[in-house]
Amino acid sequence: MYLVTGATGALGRRVVRLLRERDQPVRSFVRLSSKYAELENRGSEIFIGNLREERDIQKACRRVKYVISSHGSGSDAQELDYRANVDLIDQAKAAGVEHFVFISVLGADRGYEDATVFKAKREVEKYLQSSGLNYTILRPSGLASSLLPLAERFKQTGLYLLTGDPKNRTSIVSTDDLARIAVESPVNMGAKNRIFPVGGPDILKREDIPRIFGRLFNREPIVINAPLMVVDGIRGSIGLMNPALSGSLGTFRALVANEFYCTANEIDTLETIYNFKLESVETFLRRYLGT
Ligand SMILES: NC(=O)c1ccc[n+]([C@@H]2O[C@H](COP(=O)([O-])OP(=O)(O)OC[C@H]3O[C@@H](n4cnc5c(N)ncnc54)[C@H](OP(=O)(O)O)[C@@H]3O)[C@@H](O)[C@H]2O)c1
Repeated sequence: MYLVTGATGALGRRVVRLLRERDQPVRSFVRLSSKYAELENRGSEIFIGNLREERDIQKACRRVKYVISSHGSGSDAQELDYRANVDLIDQAKAAGVEHFVFISVLGADRGYEDATVFKAKREVEKYLQSSGLNYTILRPSGLASSLLPLAERFKQTGLYLLTGDPKNRTSIVSTDDLARIAVESPVNMGAKNRIFPVGGPDILKREDIPRIFGRLFNREPIVINAPLMVVDGIRGSIGLMNPALSGSLGTFRALVANEFYCTANEIDTLETIYNFKLESVETFLRRYLGT
């Protein structure tokens, strides 16, 4: 039995679909408020719970062989990115889980002091590595599925808002490829107790994204480039009133102020170990947008 957290999220949904296509037993950890009918229809067991509750995590881990932790946190990195994963690791260990896959983030080890998600991910990585569990830690760059709503908006307006340096490099990964890597990690000996940066096959500049959208919809992009100062200004003014939101903006700032790409060697390693070719962002988008 696989336990998947964040099963209704962009990545988790794909992980559950893939496991069910391969006839694997899956338990999807979902909240009652989530839309989980599709997962149930595909034959996943549904576990209703909240990752803020250790008791729910403990119950969800019963009779589980593999855990894939793919939940996100909204603006509560402390409780969800950190605490819930630490509880999951403890309960997985107590339940005799054989392998734990943790979805981290590219750059988790760069020490971004103001980015709570990055800090939480790095602390969980360390906790997992010293837990005694078998593990695979995947550090993705941006997920291509996050571009889908932006592409839909671009289709209507031709507008693309780019915050920070347009020349910054990124290797956005196909969310389908990341799901496949996550699903195969527990049964791939080459992935045992390893940390992998995970990106797409191409190193893009951030300004390439509106160009790709332009090609997809045959439309000249209108790029609005907001400087980093705008994020800093907003952060400064809301920081005193809403520290949680200010924390999320710290993570957002780290994302837009820095480069997140994988080297050709890192992509080669992934393709060799998992034995498939990673797809480009454009191929991923064309499949979902039907262009
Ligand atoms: N998106 C990116 O570009 C990116 C880049 C690097 C790394 N990552 C990492 O990749 C993973 C997947 O990201 P994603 O974009 O697929 O996430 P997502 O779409 O934001 O999904 C978040 C998931 O977490 C669940 N969740 C949130 N709070 C919960 C709680 N209290 N109890 C139970 N479930 C809860 C949500 O359930 P509900 O349906 O109930 O809300 C949802 O299924 C995350 O670990 C993220 O940090 C993402």
